[in-house]
Parts: sequence; structure tokens; C-alpha cells
Amino acid sequence: MYRATFSVIDLRAFAHNLRVVKERIQAGTELLVTVKANAYGHGVGPIIQVLREEGVRAVGVASLEEGLQVRACGYDGMVLILGSVGPQELAVAAENRIDVSYTDTWGDIAQLPKMSRSLRVHTPFDTGMNRLGFKSIEDAKVVIAQIVKRPDMEWAGVSTHLACSDGESDAHAVEQVERFVGMTRQLRELGYQVPRVHASNSGGVLRNPKWNFDMVRIGIVAYGYSPDEYVLPAPELQPVMHFYSAITRIATVTPGETIGYGATFTANKEMRVATVAAGYADGYPRVLSNVGKVLVHGVLAPVVGRVCMDQLMIDVSHIPTARVGDFVTLFGIEPPAAWTIEAWNARLPADRDAWLVETFAQARNVQRNVLSLSDVASLAGTISYEMACQVNPRVPKLYAK
Ligand SMILES: Cc1ncc(COP(=O)(O)O)c(C=O)c1O
Repeated sequence: MYRATFSVIDLRAFAHNLRVVKERIQAGTELLVTVKANAYGHGVGPIIQVLREEGVRAVGVASLEEGLQVRACGYDGMVLILGSVGPQELAVAAENRIDVSYTDTWGDIAQLPKMSRSLRVHTPFDTGMNRLGFKSIEDAKVVIAQIVKRPDMEWAGVSTHLACSDGESDAHAVEQVERFVGMTRQLRELGYQVPRVHASNSGGVLRNPKWNFDMVRIGIVAYGYSPDEYVLPAPELQPVMHFYSAITRIATVTPGETIGYGATFTANKEMRVATVAAGYADGYPRVLSNVGKVLVHGVLAPVVGRVCMDQLMIDVSHIPTARVGDFVTLFGIEPPAAWTIEAWNARLPADRDAWLVETFAQARNVQRNVLSLSDVASLAGTISYEMACQVNPRVPKLYAK
């Protein structure tokens, strides 16, 4: 590693969060963890490895490509494509034992080519999200009748997705669940043996155990965040992703001087302004220009001026101890005390990864300040999910066991 801008993915925290979720769901409820979008930006390979170690037997992906990637990691549990999947992809899904969600593009199911292996199909019900699935039992029963008729298909699940499980009120989710229960009851009344029923996401699991049914599909809680920290606080979760960079320059800015592109910030007093080696091309959003906050020596330093592609500037006037070479937190926990510029420079680039990971693992047992990803995301007008996904691949990921 040459540039001091990197993320640390705390796999011990990930395993801890899985255990927290397991404790919350009743025995007999299956746990599916969503690993789509490169495991919410955390890196699918190492995340799959922990899921295997922790005995998680089902994962969710967004596409066939992602499903195949999970299989290539050696994962042999259930892999379910949660989003749409085209008719030409079904044979490949079947061959690789990847479960699919019924999608309207399939056309007449009787006309689909014969699969070499049984294709496992989940039928989604649209109970209030208006994204995918059947809106009525009349539509559903035609498709289900065709699925169960085919010897090369297995009806493997019945699902719905909750739009507002983390909303201030649970009224919308309650309505969705009631509609869903009604639909599954109607299917039973039609004589069907209804397979695995699943609805809850992270918000649902934190909110109401009655929504867990046969399986829950969780994502963000496994990565350490409640979908809404204010509505559904979950202090027992530990953040998995930590994003760090370093100060490359500190300058004195005099009153009247401007900072950054577009001169959007003008100093009205003498200031100490630090340059940090990360920008929007690393995944630090440009909308955080003049609104973001970075953690320096445990103290918040406001972003001043526009976030550039590879650098950003922060006001450290109130942090007299800040020095060139200091590590800073873009989100996550404070850097370990061992991370100094002297220690960094004393190591060959090839030796830095191991040293950073080792010192991180030692320091995480000590209570330290945190700049929550949720808080940074909310300053950026978005959510932790999007911020985690958009940390750029050029930012090296270090995995702490
Ligand atoms: C169908 C489906 N189920 C479950 C999840 C997991 O959601 P969360 O990360 O909020 O738990 C997602 C994620 O977007 C999803 O699309």
C-alpha cells in the first residue's frame, strides 16, 4: 500500500452482528444474509467466508452474475436472486443451484426450455412496495399452477418485501404483512402446500418477530447498522466498515482567502486548514462539500470548500494537535494510536497492510470515538447502504479477523 487511504473491514464485528441477529430470531427461522453489490461494498469473498464459518445457510444476491460469483467463492448453501432474472438465464441458474424469484419477463412458463437440473422458484407477492411480484392471487395462481406442473421446477418460496419496516410508524408494514398472510392463506385454501414463507428485512427483524415467518432476509444489520438509527436503535451492533485517510498538508488560511474549487468557502478568521488524501473518486460524496465532518484525534473537523476528486480540505483550527501525516476517520472508529506517520514511513509499502490490520485488531478492544456511517450518510442526504456501496474499488480493503 502506497497511499494512506483505505478501508478496514472488521470481520469479527460482522460475525458478532450475525450472532446478534440469530439471538433475535426464533429457532426454526432460517437466516438469509444479502450479499448483493459486493456484500454492500464490503467484499463478497471474505464476507462469504465468515458466513460459512458462522453456519449461515442462505444468501441473497441481485443478479445471476452475483449468484455465480458467490458459487465461485465455494458457497454451497441457498443462493437466491432477489431481483428480476430473464428467461435465458434460468438454465444457468438451475445448473448452479441458484434460486430465482419469478419475474414477469418469463412469458408462458410451459414454453420455457427444459432445465438440466430442477430450478427452484420463489414467487414474490407485491403487498405494498410496487416493485415486483403478484398483486393478486388470481395472477399468482396461474403462474404457480404452471410451476408446480413442471417436473424440472420446484416451488421453493413465497415472499414479499416490506417498504417501511423501519418507518416511524409500523402501520404500512402491518398492512403489508396482513395482506401477505391473507394471500398465503388463500393459496392454502386452493389446496397448495405453501413452501418457505419470507418477508422480513433488517427493519422487520428489529421491529416485530411476528414478521419473521420461515426465513428472514437481512442485510444492513449484519454490516453493523440499523436501517434507521433513530427509529430502531440497535446499539449492540458493531460497524464493520471503517474508512480512513491521512492529512498530507496543513496550511494557515488568512481572512478573505477562499478554499477549493469554485471558491465556495471564504475564511472570516485565520484558520488551520488540513488537506486529506481522499475525495469523491474514493467514495466520499461531493455533496459533503462544506457539510461533511471528519474525525481527527477524536474531534470532528468540518469539511471546508468543495470535496475534490482525490482530496478534501478540513478545518482543524480547533485541533492544535493535528499534524501532517495524521490518520483521520472518514467514517468508523478512531484510528489506533499506533498509526503514526513515523510508523507508516518506517514500513515498506508491502508490509503496511499486515501492520495496519494487526494494530486495528488490537485497538478495537479499547473504547474509542466513532464517526457513525449513518451520521455521515445523513449529512450527505443518503443512507448507510449507499455510502458503504460507493466506497470506490481503488480504495484498498484490509480485512481484520
Ligand atoms: C428483497 C430484499 N430482501 C431483503 C433485503 C435486505 O434489506 P436490509 O439490508 O434492509 O436488511 C433487500 C435489500 O435491499 C431486498 O431487496
